[in-house]
Amino acid sequence: VLKEDASLPAAVRIKLNNKSVELGDGKDKKGARVKVFGRIHELRVQKTATFIILKDGYGKLSCILPAGDLTKNYDALMFALETALVLYGEMRATPEGVTADDNRELHVDYYKVLGAAPSDLDAITNKVSMQQDPWDAAMLDNRHLVLRGENASAVMKLREFVELAFIDSYREMHFRKVSPPAMVQTQVEGGSTLFKYDYYGEEAYLTQSSQLYLETVIQSLGDVYCIEKSFRAEKSLTRRHLSEYTHVEAELDFIEFDDLLEHIEELISRVVDKVLADETARGYMETLNPGFQKPSRPFMRMKYEEAIEWLNKQDPPILNEEGKPHVFGDDIAEAAERRMTDIINRPIFLTHFPVEIKAFYMKKDPNDLRVTESVDVLMPGVGEIVGGSMRMDDYAELIEAYKKNGIPHEPYYWYTDQRKYGSSPHGGYGLGLERFLAWMANQHTVRTCSLYSRFMGRCKP
Ligand code: 4AD
Repeated sequence: VLKEDASLPAAVRIKLNNKSVELGDGKDKKGARVKVFGRIHELRVQKTATFIILKDGYGKLSCILPAGDLTKNYDALMFALETALVLYGEMRATPEGVTADDNRELHVDYYKVLGAAPSDLDAITNKVSMQQDPWDAAMLDNRHLVLRGENASAVMKLREFVELAFIDSYREMHFRKVSPPAMVQTQVEGGSTLFKYDYYGEEAYLTQSSQLYLETVIQSLGDVYCIEKSFRAEKSLTRRHLSEYTHVEAELDFIEFDDLLEHIEELISRVVDKVLADETARGYMETLNPGFQKPSRPFMRMKYEEAIEWLNKQDPPILNEEGKPHVFGDDIAEAAERRMTDIINRPIFLTHFPVEIKAFYMKKDPNDLRVTESVDVLMPGVGEIVGGSMRMDDYAELIEAYKKNGIPHEPYYWYTDQRKYGSSPHGGYGLGLERFLAWMANQHTVRTCSLYSRFMGRCKP
């Protein structure tokens, strides 16, 4: 059994992002004696010493256990990836020619194993998660272990940063954060993707979007936003559809369509700037998407009608879902949209979609009543990451729109009422956080952008 040498200075507990620790030089200058908790990320047993790369969720640290009492015992023989332990020792600068995280290494004088691990984890952590198919059921069943890996956890760390960058950007632009309900009795984006459930004997749904609620508070709170979960009973398995996703939504009062487009471009640019300006976040980007470049402004703007022409003009033409050339009124399906975005290879604001293929609440373009003042933001590699529009602000027109879409208007009285009590030109949008992240972090699918992704056939672990 190991014993701590009582004559050594008391060890100070640090987390691995603490970089202000005094470093020794291995000769006259002593470094601080510290105590670090973590898990074994890499392990190398050599004749002279055992080398451990320790990780604690904040950083990594090279640790050296000189061969001897520290290595010739049962615990050390059982060291494996993910073994949890606390290590004590002197922090020193790494010698010339050696590379290590933060240019420092821990010369261990004592440790305790807190939680051993079997030695089969290699197969499930980082290196493998890069190569394995993220659609693979084994990967998803083992998500709790996959998240131990460097890449999977880097995506989650970047995700937190991106979410906070949205919050900061909204604060700078004077938006107020609210928290609308997730349990609702109205639909926003069509009945086919509603998750229904029994609410004390009444039919209720998990929200598809907080938009309608945001629209009811701009009058008293000004421009508002929320970052909440949205739910869609998507019946197709694609790499960008989840059943539960994080929805960044905002609503702006007293604006015109162009103001909305400007705002979305400004928001995306601010978030990207914040990520690139932060040393830690940039580190994640370098791991995940080293070639990333901030999109140049202004973003490309293209009307739906121009996109239809563009698709047909390609050689060979990019066809619709029935294998025919696109005609005005067609939905631009995911495959076609993705091809277009990848060929153009820069963010596109696709605007002015036909009334028939868009949601009931969208305002018509006064200059062309066939189309709506609507926008999808398309990103290379992902496709649509934002959907937004100006909202119908005329009472009678909205009542008519419910009818046309076969939606009973009574349950929406609280939404319709805004058109009665001081209506205003307003608009907003929703951005899928996982899709935004898939774009920034160069992920093949939104599934690796969610902590535990939910999609058709997958509601565990
Ligand atoms: O285009 P959508 O359906 O628009 C709305 O829900 C509006 N009511 C939002 C608003 O104006 N406040 O969805 C907006 C965005 C999409 O562009 C996409 O990024 C994301 O939400 N999204 C999904 N992300 C992952 N999985 C799904 N099943 C998604 N459905 C939409």
